[in-house]
Amino acid sequence: MRNRALPPLPSVVEGASLTRSERSSLRYFPIFVDLDNREVLIVGGGEKALQKLRLIAKTTARVRMVAPEFDAGILELEREPAVTLVRRGFAPADLAGVAIAFAAAEDATTNSHVATAAKAQGVPHNVVDGPAESTFIMPAIVDRDPVVVAIGTEGTAPVLAREVKAKIEAWLPANFGRVADAAMALRRRVQDAIADPARRRRLWETLLHGVWRSSVLRGQAPAAEREFERQLHAARIGTQFAGSVTLIGCGPGDPDLLTLKAQQRLQEADVLVVDRLVNPAILEYARRDAVRIDVGKEPEGPSAAQDDINRILVREALKGQRVARLKGGDAFVFGRAAEEMAAVRAAGIPVEVVPGITAAHACAAGIGLPLTLRQKVRQFAVVTGASADGAFDLDWNALAKPGQAFAIYMGVRSAGRFRDELLAAGADQQTAVVIVENGTLASERVIATELGHLAGAIEDLGVKGPAIIFVGLDWVAAGLSPPDKLERYQPKAASAARDFERRLAPQG
Ligand SMILES: C[S@@+](CC[C@H](N)C(=O)[O-])C[C@H]1O[C@@H](n2cnc3c(N)ncnc32)[C@H](O)[C@@H]1O
Repeated sequence: MRNRALPPLPSVVEGASLTRSERSSLRYFPIFVDLDNREVLIVGGGEKALQKLRLIAKTTARVRMVAPEFDAGILELEREPAVTLVRRGFAPADLAGVAIAFAAAEDATTNSHVATAAKAQGVPHNVVDGPAESTFIMPAIVDRDPVVVAIGTEGTAPVLAREVKAKIEAWLPANFGRVADAAMALRRRVQDAIADPARRRRLWETLLHGVWRSSVLRGQAPAAEREFERQLHAARIGTQFAGSVTLIGCGPGDPDLLTLKAQQRLQEADVLVVDRLVNPAILEYARRDAVRIDVGKEPEGPSAAQDDINRILVREALKGQRVARLKGGDAFVFGRAAEEMAAVRAAGIPVEVVPGITAAHACAAGIGLPLTLRQKVRQFAVVTGASADGAFDLDWNALAKPGQAFAIYMGVRSAGRFRDELLAAGADQQTAVVIVENGTLASERVIATELGHLAGAIEDLGVKGPAIIFVGLDWVAAGLSPPDKLERYQPKAASAARDFERRLAPQG
């Protein structure tokens, strides 16, 4: 917020002294220095000076660099109108009129010389790798102009500052600053339309945490304007509505596979509606005060009917809550997203979809098994062994053709039927099969076998799922070796005999 009147300083009660924790022991106090059109001096012409130049180039300062010679990287930036290069050694007169100075020469003697002169002239200065000689140190910066986060560790552990920076970088959308700029542009309209400060504050909360914000972040100006008008009108007549639903693909289990956008939406959500296959560790990314509703069902266990789930989503959003619907993998792959989207939209509630990594992709990546191969595997399909009406009506002739590659979802219980249908349609018994159970989790198992032994492998090795069954893909064809943890399945005599009998039985 620029040009805002300063809030009053907290009053000090006369005679009262600060407690130890109030006093703290900060040596470096974080402030933001106005460098607009001011001059910044950087002494040095090598890599260290270039790093400082890159930082200061983010500001509207004028930069003067002094050094006998400059590296190519700096010479490239000489074309910038605000950068002047002075080719000679440093002289104390270079500090005249300077707002801040950096001693960034490659040799310590020059830097000490700059520090001494700057100290004598009262110019705030930073010496690269010399905090003791500096009057200020540089924080790690997350730049989402005009939103800027500065992180410091009092010079103790820059590695920690970088860790915090990486976390904030991941958490704040790259174009986050856009939200602040767009809010600034609307400030006057809000001020003129809503006199009551409390109502104004609620309107801003709604805009900055809801659909308006996501539209701005996505660069959808007309949608953002429509939403703004809607919320402004609601705030005027006192019926604000901020509810929304976001379907979030949470990946197959490993929380590190969450997308940055999924993390952001989880942070914003007031209510979490959670599926069974969503790893509880993922909920750590949500706010602690978010309400959690579990709707996942065990396979063949009591189901939270889809209609009930739809009703919960609509009910919570109509209360004005930002609802995050957490789904395993990707919401659009066997995720019943269409039913939920339709129900939410029919209630006039905005819905957004955040893609996730689907189980087949994550499992394949985890075991180094490419899903397509130049010349050899030119199409890859995802199929399921479960359907709403119980029908098992895939295009078996197409799937059974040589060279076909596909991943079976929800196929553990119907593995025998898959094998029988494929073999009956002419598939080779020895077609490669790879089963990945609990993919991407610590309990992951990888089993290789042949199509003829698919059901036996699942039964004998006690595969319970969730599992992806890859058919028609193997490492040999890709010129790769399998992962160390691979179990190769050899059928036991009993299961081989069982398989044989089943295959002799008439198909029905
Ligand atoms: C209802 S579907 C949901 C699929 C999900 N939308 C996706 O994109 O991965 C559930 C099936 O996904 C597969 N699956 C989900 N998580 C898995 C995991 N960690 N490892 C292996 N398969 C998994 C299994 O086939 C499971 O039966």
